[in-house]
Amino acid sequence: MVSLLIVEDDKNLRVLLTKKLSETYNVDAAESGEEAERKLSENYYDIVLLDIKLPDMDGLELLKKYSLNGIKFIVITGYGDIRTAITSVKYGAYDFIQKPFNFDLLDVTIKKALKEKNLEEENRALKNFLFKGKIEGYLLETRNPKFREVLETARMVADVEAPILIRGETGVGKEVLARYIHKISSRRDKPFVVVDCTAIPEHLFESELFGYEKGAFTGANQRKLGLVEIANNGTLFFDEIGDMPFSVQAKLLRFVETKKFRRVGGLKDLEVDVKIICATNKNLEELIKEGKFREDLYYRINTIELEIPPLRERKEDIPLLVEFFLKKYRKKIKNETLIELMNYSWEGNVRELKNVIERACLLSTDIYIDEAICLKRKNISCIEKMMEKLPTLEELEKMYLAFLYKRFNGNIDKIAETLGCSRRTVFRKLKSLRERYSDLKDTTFTR
Ligand SMILES: Nc1ncnc2c1ncn2[C@@H]1O[C@H](COP(=O)(O)OP(=O)(O)OP(=O)(O)O)[C@@H](O)[C@H]1O
Ligand SMILES: [Mg+2]
Repeated sequence: MVSLLIVEDDKNLRVLLTKKLSETYNVDAAESGEEAERKLSENYYDIVLLDIKLPDMDGLELLKKYSLNGIKFIVITGYGDIRTAITSVKYGAYDFIQKPFNFDLLDVTIKKALKEKNLEEENRALKNFLFKGKIEGYLLETRNPKFREVLETARMVADVEAPILIRGETGVGKEVLARYIHKISSRRDKPFVVVDCTAIPEHLFESELFGYEKGAFTGANQRKLGLVEIANNGTLFFDEIGDMPFSVQAKLLRFVETKKFRRVGGLKDLEVDVKIICATNKNLEELIKEGKFREDLYYRINTIELEIPPLRERKEDIPLLVEFFLKKYRKKIKNETLIELMNYSWEGNVRELKNVIERACLLSTDIYIDEAICLKRKNISCIEKMMEKLPTLEELEKMYLAFLYKRFNGNIDKIAETLGCSRRTVFRKLKSLRERYSDLKDTTFTR
């Protein structure tokens, strides 16, 4: 709903306007410059009706300060004060009307101002659409059809009210995408607030999220705003929603459905306007089965689902990303190094690639980044990955033998030499492993 602030010190006029305009708009009123200033800095308004002659302040000051925020100011001036009226337009007022005024004229002026505001917003959204991938610090261009579709959907839904769920492995850029959606939406100049569900202890979750009133519990010496209020008119990003404590999920569900909440210790419901984006690298469907995630919440938050493919499934983007990360350091990469990087599995996705490249940039003395530095890091993480499963000694033996077998094309002499044991030992080991591991079944030896 359109929200409107009336700044008028004449009580009769203020009450009359509030009454009339409340039929159509969400109306708030201030009787002094100071009150208006406070309300303008705390809330968002589409339209401000501003009496330029206020008891404590020159209305032009308010105009100068706030008219750049996309708020449309309609200035009310005294009869015959055409000079002030013109000055106010110069300072960014949308239009002015003179007292005593005709209510129909005011109504038309408000409607015209709203129309212009909508057009400006559409225009901005369109411009952003054209500038697509350009968000500072990130590269949101892709050669991958699946990811392209994700980005296109993201652009289409940036201004849709329904919540968005972003899925994908760790490091694929879920938060990057959430920030991008915020940036291209009409909420871009409002806050983007992250709720890190892994970092907030269960017993503090509710008060962090919804805030608390003074005296709500021992130590609550002052009212505290929750993250949902801080995010008002902007975007609220629930990172790793799968880790949200079960006890908080019911409260979140109510909030997602109604945008209403209550501060801890508070008696009345408050309402905010936020866009909700959630992200997870967990399998929420599994969590539901295990009784750790509410099914009703799941259906609420996944109206629009965006799944970012892992980097190994969009290898064609690796050269683009590498070039992007190199640019900052004015370094280059040789083709063969790039090919090596494209062949790697990138379990840590874009985050890992970024780290590898940045490290190589810092450690390479040449203009070309050092291949060995890139690959060394890569190998370490490969081993780390293998070890993550905590293999048994036998499994390790099997993995290494299978690796050597492939590496030396089944040449048993070379395998034995590398292992530092006899050919017979290799033979025996492979034979016994072959019986238990189907992928070694077809091993035959050459010399
Ligand atoms: N498209 C991109 N362009 C530039 N950098 C990116 C891009 N995507 C991800 N990154 C970088 O990779 C890192 C991880 O990104 P992000 O935090 O968004 O991932 P995530 O999917 O939220 O990971 P996690 O599941 O671990 O929270 C960040 O440092 C970010 O700068
Ligand atoms: Mg993240």
